[in-house]
Amino acid sequence: MSSQSKAAIADALSEARERTLALVEPLDDEQLNRVWSPILSPLSWDLGHIANFEELWLVRTIGEREPLRGELGRFYDAIENPRKIRGELPILRDEELRAYMADVRERTLDVLEGVEIGADVEDPLLRDGFVYEMLLAHELQHNETMLQLLQLADGYELPDQVASERTSSRIAGRSESSAAEMVTVEAGTYEIGAADRGFAYDNERPRHAVELTGFEIDRTPVSNGAYVSYMEATGAEPPLYWERDGEGWIETSRGQRAPIDPADPVIHVSWDQADGFARWAGKRLPTEFEWEAAREELEGVGHGWEWTSSHFRAYPGFEAFPYREYSEVFFGDEYRVLRGSSWATHPRVARPTFRNWDLPQRSQIFAGLRCARDA
Ligand SMILES: [Fe+2]
Repeated sequence: MSSQSKAAIADALSEARERTLALVEPLDDEQLNRVWSPILSPLSWDLGHIANFEELWLVRTIGEREPLRGELGRFYDAIENPRKIRGELPILRDEELRAYMADVRERTLDVLEGVEIGADVEDPLLRDGFVYEMLLAHELQHNETMLQLLQLADGYELPDQVASERTSSRIAGRSESSAAEMVTVEAGTYEIGAADRGFAYDNERPRHAVELTGFEIDRTPVSNGAYVSYMEATGAEPPLYWERDGEGWIETSRGQRAPIDPADPVIHVSWDQADGFARWAGKRLPTEFEWEAAREELEGVGHGWEWTSSHFRAYPGFEAFPYREYSEVFFGDEYRVLRGSSWATHPRVARPTFRNWDLPQRSQIFAGLRCARDA
């Protein structure tokens, strides 16, 4: 790979870091260290973890350098340290944390100078710059979990760029009519998953053929107004951050009190709520393969992740790469797959084949739904 591509990698790394730092810029150290919720890491853990993951892959693995801070890495291991204990760990904080992030980045750029990252490089971590794409995706995905936490911060203002992405995805996802228009997808064989070349996670591979029977799927995501009708008809729980206000509903994330707009796509619903809505509407959630097969026909993708009926499982011929803990340890019946992306997802992460997953009762993620039914 040419030095120009290395410059592009360095630019993308610094762009991602600017986004990370912009998110926490309005906060003081107490807010960064605070445990806001047992299901979300303190922001200082996320920041240290982002830098430690970068040190692990881009400095120690690729550059074969010694760790900067000895055993520190074990406190940033996401599997070893569940979210509810992360606030009590002896992690880096305040000035020490900021210095560590900067030290790691300096070494990363130093290592980048000396590596070969072309298309014909033998090491699969370096081929086409895979490991750098992985690190960028990792940091940007943590930006999204940080934004989940920041929904709890009263008075927090989104950085301008993120605020405008939120507004544009919300407008694109609006549907004025209460009866969802559906798209018909013919029965047939569909290619699912990411092709061999280009960056994708191991769980998106290998690309394989899937037989689907004919189905219909909503052209736009389920709206707030449709969700209110469901709540009124069944007594179902409101989405997270909704509060009653007289006859109507308001949205209270980040301490705001904004009226709910019925045409906006609903978000902050759990899989259980999404599944309940779909049944009430006489439909069902799409499978993740149906969602991917219909992707080109779908409007409004991008404000909220979309719950599917699928469990998170390996594709046939799956091989863990580059480490088991990204996907493989989560395969099974515990998690449901989400497709698409949300207003908090960086465009670099939002691939049509990207598979997100979470527990069915969780609603802190920016997730909504669209419905499907057999044709
Ligand atoms: Fe991570």
